[in-house]
Amino acid sequence: MTANPPSTPAATGSAPAGGWLAGKVALITGGGSGIGFAVARRYVAEGAKVAIVGRGADRIAAAAASIGDQAVALGLTGDVRSPEDMAAAVAKTVETFGKLDILVPNAGIWDYNRSVTRLSGQELSDSFDELFDINVKGYLLAVNAAWPELVKNRGNVVMTLSNASFHTAGGGPVYTAAKFACRGLVAQLAYELAPKVRVNGVAVGGMKTDLRGPESIGLKDRSIEDSFARQTTVGDNPYLPLHDASVEPDDYTGPFVMLASDANASVITGAIIPADGGIAVRGFRTAAGGDDL
Ligand SMILES: NC(=O)c1ccc[n+]([C@@H]2O[C@H](COP(=O)([O-])OP(=O)(O)OC[C@H]3O[C@@H](n4cnc5c(N)ncnc54)[C@H](O)[C@@H]3O)[C@@H](O)[C@H]2O)c1
Repeated sequence: MTANPPSTPAATGSAPAGGWLAGKVALITGGGSGIGFAVARRYVAEGAKVAIVGRGADRIAAAAASIGDQAVALGLTGDVRSPEDMAAAVAKTVETFGKLDILVPNAGIWDYNRSVTRLSGQELSDSFDELFDINVKGYLLAVNAAWPELVKNRGNVVMTLSNASFHTAGGGPVYTAAKFACRGLVAQLAYELAPKVRVNGVAVGGMKTDLRGPESIGLKDRSIEDSFARQTTVGDNPYLPLHDASVEPDDYTGPFVMLASDANASVITGAIIPADGGIAVRGFRTAAGGDDL
C-alpha cells in the first residue's frame, strides 16, 4: 500500500497564489442554490473550476453563469436519484475541464420536522422512500460515478451533512435517520477509497435557504427560509450559542475549502466538522410533543 504523496503546496499557513484550490476541478450536486451554490462560488474564489448539477435547466444555467464564465463554471441538469444522470455529470465535467478532483454530494430535501406522531403509515412510507432516495442514495450514486476519476488525481469527497447527523430536533425521524446514514457513508467510503481518495463531511447547521420538502407528502413548495422567519430566538436567547438564525450559506463555506484542500487536509479522512453554531454546547432548549402527545 502506498501512502499519499506529500501535499503540494506545503501547508505554510498562508494560501498559495491563486487560492487553496488553485487548479482543482469540483463537481457539486444541488449546486444551483443554498449551501451548494455558496460552496461553488467559494471554490471558484479559491482557484477551482466547478460544475454544478441539479434539477431545472434554466435555473442551473443561470446559477452557473452567476458564478463565473464558461471557463470556470459549468451548469448541468440531472437528478441525483439517477445513476445515468450522475455518470453523465461526471463525464461532462471531465470532458469540459479535463479531470475531476473534488466531489461535493450535497443535494437534499428536508422533512419539515414531521414527527412520527404526525404522519400516517402511508405518508411515512412515501416520504421515507423519497427523502432517502435523494439524501442518501443520491450521495452514494454521486460517489459511485465519480470515484474512478477521483482515484486518478488522489482527489477527495466533501459531503454536506447536518446538525441532524448528530442531534435530535434538526428534523423529523426520516430526515434525522437519513443524515445519520450519511455519517455512515463518510466512514465506509473513507475506508473503501483510502489511500487514494479522502472522504469527509461538513455538518452544517440551520441556514436560510430554499430547502424543500418531499413532494410525496405535499411539501415540495415549502421553503425552510419561512421556518427561520418564525424562529430566530428561544426566549431571550439567540437561536444558537454562537448566533441567531441570520447566518447565510456563505458563512459555512470555510470547512468545505479546508477539507478539499490537499495542503490543509492531506491527513484527514473519515472526519466530519460540525459547523453548526455550537449546537452541541447547549443543545436545543425545546421539548418535543409535551401535552400534545
Ligand atoms: N438549510 C438548512 O438549514 C440545512 C441544515 C443542515 C443541512 N442542510 C443540508 O444542506 C444541503 C443543501 O440544502 P440547502 O439548505 O442548501 O437547500 P437548497 O434547496 O437551496 O439546496 C438543495 C439543492 O438540491 C437540489 N435537489 C433537490 N433534490 C434533487 C434531486 N433529486 N436531484 C438533483 N438536485 C436536487 C435542489 O434543487 C437544490 O438546488 C442538503 O443536503 C441539506 O440537507 C441544510
